[in-house]
Amino acid sequence: MTNRVKHVGILTGGGDCPGLNAVIRAVTKSLILRYGIKVTGIEDGFDGLVERRTRPLDYDSVSGILQAGGTMLGTSNKANPFRHAVQKDGEIEYHDRSDEVIHYIEELGLDGLVCIGGDGTMAISKKLIEKGVPVVGVPKTIDNDIVGTDITFGFDSAVTVAAEAMDRIHTTAQSHHRIMLVEIMGRYAGWLALFSGIAAGADVILVPEIDYDLDVICDYVHKRSQKGRRFSIVAVAEGAKSQGGEMTVQRRVETSPDQVRLGGVAVKLGQDIEDQTGLETRATILGHLQRGGTPTPFDRVLATRYGVAAAELIGDNKWNLMVALHGDHIGTVAIEEIGGKVRKIEQDSALLRTAESVGTCLGIALRYI
Ligand code: F6P
Repeated sequence: MTNRVKHVGILTGGGDCPGLNAVIRAVTKSLILRYGIKVTGIEDGFDGLVERRTRPLDYDSVSGILQAGGTMLGTSNKANPFRHAVQKDGEIEYHDRSDEVIHYIEELGLDGLVCIGGDGTMAISKKLIEKGVPVVGVPKTIDNDIVGTDITFGFDSAVTVAAEAMDRIHTTAQSHHRIMLVEIMGRYAGWLALFSGIAAGADVILVPEIDYDLDVICDYVHKRSQKGRRFSIVAVAEGAKSQGGEMTVQRRVETSPDQVRLGGVAVKLGQDIEDQTGLETRATILGHLQRGGTPTPFDRVLATRYGVAAAELIGDNKWNLMVALHGDHIGTVAIEEIGGKVRKIEQDSALLRTAESVGTCLGIALRYI
């Protein structure tokens, strides 16, 4: 044990997900219990560093939050000290506030930061590291799209919500003999749609990694109908698109590092299927339901393992690493290798083959059977 580190700050960045509080709890409790290290919570991600909003975290302040969804510290998917947005005369101006952030970190006496977040948070962490701020990262997102780790916490909880939603859609689809499309989050990666689609036995699973052919989907649901299976469940990732088509953008958030917000592909595709097959369709967009609520036991355990591993790195005075799941083992990856990258489903993924092997349509001609 080393006592060289005395005080760290902790923040949650990017979109929230179930398990953030479990990580905050695990990091704080183990830093206090095992190393006697003081912890300060930073509010609303990197905004708290720019706007000087922090509060001390002690053992009691992180008790009773293991099961709670969201983040007790607040978060922001727009905060960026290197490009801090301010409204001036109706216009948005961007300022580099990173030097002020460094002064504030020094003023607080922080030896380093724990940054819990996704690729955007890791990209900002990398820039802070370059300015001399030591950082330990923890990979979060329902999208499961961070490179360097097998699984992010939050993913399992979102899969559970999406699968349960499809189970419910299943019964009403059966009763009304409809084609039911369920739109699932995940940004530019299809992990959430693929896992929840397999779990719910979706008939069609569409992911951003495979551009779909409308004719193949229509032919598939039509044949099911002819065979007496007069309903179909289509799990469609928000980032799915047709061959030669574009992703469906719901809105743009100008001040966000990734301005694009996807959404609406299920409605559009549902109409296309109805027009082409004559079968009645309905679309449900699950949206932020997938990000809210209590973490699954799997995510509580993973978040706790990540939090304790992050504390152990800090206790050993090891920095600029992100904790990661490699098989059954918690390892590390250099933060500089993570930021700004997206982990997508490989074309030859065993999971895609698994789905197709049980008769699931992936929106293109069969590849494996
Ligand atoms: O990255 C998590 C995520 O929920 C994505 O799946 C989704 O595309 C995006 O965030 C939605 O962002 P917002 O909360 O800004 O609408």
